[in-house]
Amino acid sequence: MVAEALATTSMNIPYLNLQAVTAQHSEAIHQAVTTVVDSGWYLQGNAVKTFEDHYAQYIGTRHCIGMANGLDALTLTLRAYMEMGRLKVGDEVLVPANTFIATVLSITENQLTPVFIDIDAHTLDLDTDALERAVNERTSALMLVHLYGRCTYNERIAQICHTHNLLLIEDNAQAHGCWYHQQRTGSLGHAACHSFYPGKNLGALGDGGAVTTNDDELADVLRTIANYGFKEKYVATMLGRNSRLDEVQAAVLDVKLQYLDEDNQRRQALARTYYNKISNPHIRLPQQMNEGNNVYHIFPVFTPWRDELQQYLNDRGIGTLIHYPIPPHKQSCYPTWNHLQLPVAEQLAKQELSLPLSQVLTDEEANYVVEAMNAFQPSGYEKSGK
Ligand SMILES: Cc1ncc(COP(=O)(O)O)c(C=O)c1O
Repeated sequence: MVAEALATTSMNIPYLNLQAVTAQHSEAIHQAVTTVVDSGWYLQGNAVKTFEDHYAQYIGTRHCIGMANGLDALTLTLRAYMEMGRLKVGDEVLVPANTFIATVLSITENQLTPVFIDIDAHTLDLDTDALERAVNERTSALMLVHLYGRCTYNERIAQICHTHNLLLIEDNAQAHGCWYHQQRTGSLGHAACHSFYPGKNLGALGDGGAVTTNDDELADVLRTIANYGFKEKYVATMLGRNSRLDEVQAAVLDVKLQYLDEDNQRRQALARTYYNKISNPHIRLPQQMNEGNNVYHIFPVFTPWRDELQQYLNDRGIGTLIHYPIPPHKQSCYPTWNHLQLPVAEQLAKQELSLPLSQVLTDEEANYVVEAMNAFQPSGYEKSGK
């Protein structure tokens, strides 16, 4: 019955319709871009300063330092801590085994050593027992990744960092606007790194990133490193880079920041629909969290028939993505760690599929996804009529 209904009401739902996302605030975005274009000032100007102030206020930190992208935000944060003497070459940095490779690249780029920690299959949070076991005298930091938009911070993690004097660096690339009690993610540790890649909850019209922190010295060092190592013009006190958020992106982000909470609430409502209505014994949904603790950058589901489900949904006009098919320790760029076994992360990489979920997805589209998900039968299974 359901399969017949789907066949007659076919829809085309891309995984993410960025054109529609931008069109929501088209006029304000065009106006903001035009203002920058007409100003003749394209780097290190008022638009960046204004956005940095607004974003720091939004996250709840003293500083926000604009960067060229999220990978730079992560890499230069570690670089800055090396410059400040808080990290040194060879130090171990704890990192979840199921993350986007950029988190790990920032560690290896600085000649630090990633120590991969597996996660709990149900909560998708770090396995805190494994985390505690991994700490030794060389351990200097933890990179905590709020993957999929879920806040993954907790009291035990805070305690482990405090007890062992570890730097706690949040990778908040996927969780803009997420809460932990009365605090936003991005304000929970020593520093937090954000990506404004276009598809993120707060996305630019190109690349962008930022670091938020309450540490005055870190903010100062980061601004220096990101600007050729210049503390004052043409005086290089550190080996620097060029990594700056530009004026056009900052102006766009400042417009979109005003709608971030609203957009996240829409994502949460759609996630509620998925949780309430998707029911298929062959597909597992992640454990549901308190609503404020998840801004649903990604809505992952897990099934041993992942590739089949992806093809099935694709045949019904539903776009999906996989986040991520190969965990960092199994990537061929990291032969040193290919032998490691991190079973939960490895299993999730084989089973994960991300459903369409964004602020521009309609109720009708979400219900169409639900119906398709509920009608899915892996090959070899008898139709139950469900
Ligand atoms: C968890 C995570 N960390 C880091 C990054 C890197 O950000 P960017 O693409 O802006 O370099 C991303 C996104 O791409 C991400 O999802």
